Amino acid sequence: MNVFKQTYYYLKYRLRANTLHGTHSPFVYQFLEQIVYPKVVSESLNKIEIRRADLLKDQRQIEITDLGAGSRENNNRIKTIQRIAKSALKQPKFAALYYSIIKSTKPAHIIELGTSLGITSSYMAMAASEKIYTLEGCPNTLSIAKETFELLEIKNVETIAGNFDQTLPALLDQLNQVDFIYFDGNHTKSATLHYFNLAITKATENSLFIFDDIYWSEEMIEAWEIIKADPRVSITIDLYFIGLVFFKKGQAKENFTILF
Ligand SMILES: C[S@@+](CC[C@H](N)C(=O)[O-])C[C@H]1O[C@@H](n2cnc3c(N)ncnc32)[C@H](O)[C@@H]1O
Repeated sequence: MNVFKQTYYYLKYRLRANTLHGTHSPFVYQFLEQIVYPKVVSESLNKIEIRRADLLKDQRQIEITDLGAGSRENNNRIKTIQRIAKSALKQPKFAALYYSIIKSTKPAHIIELGTSLGITSSYMAMAASEKIYTLEGCPNTLSIAKETFELLEIKNVETIAGNFDQTLPALLDQLNQVDFIYFDGNHTKSATLHYFNLAITKATENSLFIFDDIYWSEEMIEAWEIIKADPRVSITIDLYFIGLVFFKKGQAKENFTILF
């Protein structure tokens, strides 16, 4: 998507977005007030940010296996770690949000689609009381993520190598339910909807699905519209860079756009 379209969608979001006080749903109000807006402070998260800073300077080169929709800026097969760290990782603000959500809601079965260098996985693992699963298709990228987990002494991450098309259904077969899943790889409409439909078979009314880059392309916007309209979904929250999907029963079906 070109820069004008991106700006257009972002401005549209800003004009539509509500703050806490414009939100009439008690569930969403409480979620924003108690989890989304409070600032997270934690010594262990600082350590993850030190690792991110090191990756942002890392000149080692690796060969990339791209099983997804590719990158917006550069699809070379050989990349420096620095370049991957600049373009692929979720910003601290969002990673800290996942940390808060996991700390507060204590989901038991957590999955991340797209490990990359292991930065967001580290936030999720540090918040989780149980093991989290993170799936990655590029073996060389995954080996840097493993380095991240080792350096940060994170032991509750199970990495699963391979294409999501195979690894996600295989993992879902092993789990009774999925409580928290972060979709952060292969940003095409068909893949996003396919993974959504696979994961929803293991969703409960307390599950939370988070979709990354919902305005990354026209295709992703279309996928997001389809997910919002799905009758199995109750509440969605559009934070522009990510979209949150809830399945709560007894809630009016409603789509919120919230300033973040
Ligand atoms: C945006 S990055 C993930 C960033 C990470 N969640 C973070 O915030 O630190 C997306 C990752 O998904 C992986 N990926 C994309 N499509 C895939 C697929 N079909 N199967 C497996 N991995 C895939 C890419 O190799 C890439 O490392």
